[in-house]
Order: sequence, then C-alpha cells, then structure tokens
Amino acid sequence: MLNRHARTRQPTPSAPPPIRRRRRVTESALILGAGGVLGRALRAAAPPSLTVMALSRDELDVTDAEAVSTTLRALHPGLVVNAAAFADVDAAETDAEGATAVNALGSRYVAAACRRIGAHLVFVSTAEVFDGSGTTPLAHDGVPQPVNVYGASKLAGEQAVHEELRGAGTVCRTSWLYGPASARPLKELLARLRIPAPVNAIADRLSAPTSSESLAGTLWHLGTERLGGIHHWCDSGIATPYDFLVAVAEEAEILGLIGPPPAIRPVATGEQPEAVQRPRYTVLDKRLTENALGRPAPHWRTALRRVLAAGAGARA
Ligand SMILES: NC(=O)c1ccc[n+]([C@@H]2O[C@H](COP(=O)([O-])OP(=O)(O)OC[C@H]3O[C@@H](n4cnc5c(N)ncnc54)[C@H](OP(=O)(O)O)[C@@H]3O)[C@@H](O)[C@H]2O)c1
Repeated sequence: MLNRHARTRQPTPSAPPPIRRRRRVTESALILGAGGVLGRALRAAAPPSLTVMALSRDELDVTDAEAVSTTLRALHPGLVVNAAAFADVDAAETDAEGATAVNALGSRYVAAACRRIGAHLVFVSTAEVFDGSGTTPLAHDGVPQPVNVYGASKLAGEQAVHEELRGAGTVCRTSWLYGPASARPLKELLARLRIPAPVNAIADRLSAPTSSESLAGTLWHLGTERLGGIHHWCDSGIATPYDFLVAVAEEAEILGLIGPPPAIRPVATGEQPEAVQRPRYTVLDKRLTENALGRPAPHWRTALRRVLAAGAGARA
C-alpha cells in the first residue's frame, strides 16, 4: 500500500495553527484502538501515501507499558494515531480506575514509546475536558475543567502527551462522535426510533455532532502535516441531543431506514435521570484547525445525511 508519490497539498492558512512543524513524508502509520468507531474510520480514510498498520485492543493493550514499548519499537511507525480509549462516559464514572488506566496511563505509555522511536503522535481527546459553563465556542487555549471522571481521565492523557513529547505531539479534541448507521450510537438511535413509544431527548445541552469520517480525514491531515499542539475538530453548526435525534428520525425516514418515527419530546437536563454530570456547552472553536487544513468542516446535518444514505445503500 506504500505509494511514495501521492501527497497532500500544502494548505495556505490565513491564521497559524498552534504549533507548525516541519512537513515530511510519512511512510508508515500505526492506528491504536483500531477496532473502535474512530479506528475503523481511520482505516477507511487512510491516505494512499501511507503504509498503515492497525492494532485493536486484542492485539495491543495500551495499559501494558512493556507491550506498548516493545511493539512500537518493532513496528517503528513514523506516525501513530492513538484512538484507543475508555470512551463510555457513564461507565467511567463508576470505574475511574479503568478509565484512568486507559485514557491517562495508557496514553502516557504510547506517548513515551513515540518519543523513544521518534514517531509523531496524534492523540484524540474530547470537548468534555471543559466544564460546559461557556456560551461561545471554546478556544483551543481555553482552560479545561472537567466535570466528570471521563473528562478528567482524557485531560490527564492530554497532559501526558504534552509532557512526554514536550508539546510536539498533536492533541485533537472532538465532540459527539458517531460512526456509520451500523455502529454505535446511530445503530441504537435507529433501533429506538423503530419503537412506537414516545422518546425524550435533552434539549438544553449544546455541542456539535461529528462524523467519524470527517474526524478521521482531519486526523490524518494533522498527522501527515505534523501539525502539533492542541487542535479542535467537530462538524459545523450547533445542536442539542434533541436536534440530533429529530434529524436522525427525519433523514432515516426519508431513506427508508425506519418507518414513521415516534414522538420525540424535548426535555431539560435533570428532567430525566442521568448517570453522570455532562457539560452543558461543548461547542468547539475549530477555526485555527480549519485554517491550518485549508478547508471548513462539513455541516453536521450534511454529514449525517451522507452517513445515513451510505447505511441505506448498504442495506439495499
Ligand atoms: N464517542 C464520542 O462521542 C467521543 C466524543 C469525543 C471524543 N471521543 C474520543 O474519540 C476517540 C475514539 O472514540 P470512539 O468513539 O471510537 O470509541 P470506541 O468505539 O469505544 O473505540 C475505542 C477503542 O479503544 C479500544 N480500547 C479500550 N481499551 C483499550 C486498551 N486498554 N488498549 C487498546 N485499546 C483499547 C476499544 O476496544 P474495545 O471495544 O475492545 O473496548 C475500542 O476499540 C476516543 O479517544 C474518545 O475519547 C469520543
């Protein structure tokens, strides 16, 4: 799969990214957490210029420091994208040790191994490092203040990357990530929309749904261009979980993925029990990253329509 001729174009940013690194050809890349939603999208979106290796949790457990070190030394990739994570926000709240082991310690082991072999690291983080008290899009240099275990463990992972790589690695935060219609969370939402009983959805929490396809392309670009520092990436526009569910229902019905959907009722945070406190406002300001890449993020509804249409095509 190695193609030494295919190249990404040089963007002409109108504003500088947080840290601009010297551009160089990457010949091999390693995806960690390759069995997850983002891991699979990364595999699908890998640039032809790369020879891509992909390891799922079964193949490399990032909490095993020795295995991480030995494996990276043996494979010697030029670029590592760490998509391995304890990504279940509810479960993290009751298993802080497990979330910290993967998101903080495991991320440190990966960053340290990258430093030792001179690989560039792209670490995927979350908008949930912020406390959600903001009302305007969150800048990459805003002060993080997590309100739950998951956010705290991911922030610890970010800090580990900065410490091990002295600011040279790439940290990319994102929000409300979803994969294809056949995967979480769309699969569950579509299943729920096939049940005729009314469904409640939170209508006072704001963020931006982001397709794994959109994020994967951005992560490859950041990695191959060595754009270090903190980046923000989410699809454009703003939505509540209610807006997102209504959009899923509308698009899925048009595409024949579901029949007439049930009533969707907007509810306020606190009206229905939730296992964990979630930040209310996690819209990321991604302009620096858009400028660095030389392209805007797609609108979330456009991206959602494309993802669901692909799901309908796959069923046909
Ligand atoms: N989902 C969201 O809404 C969201 C929002 C913002 C940011 N993010 C971030 O985006 C990234 C990708 O998330 P995702 O949605 O793709 O999550 P995902 O589908 O759960 O993928 C995470 C992958 O990491 C693997 N993993 C867990 N523990 C591991 C370990 N100890 N060693 C190696 N691999 C391990 C999981 O394997 P198993 O399946 O076997 O457990 C899974 O395949 C994560 O960094 C997450 O924090 C997600």
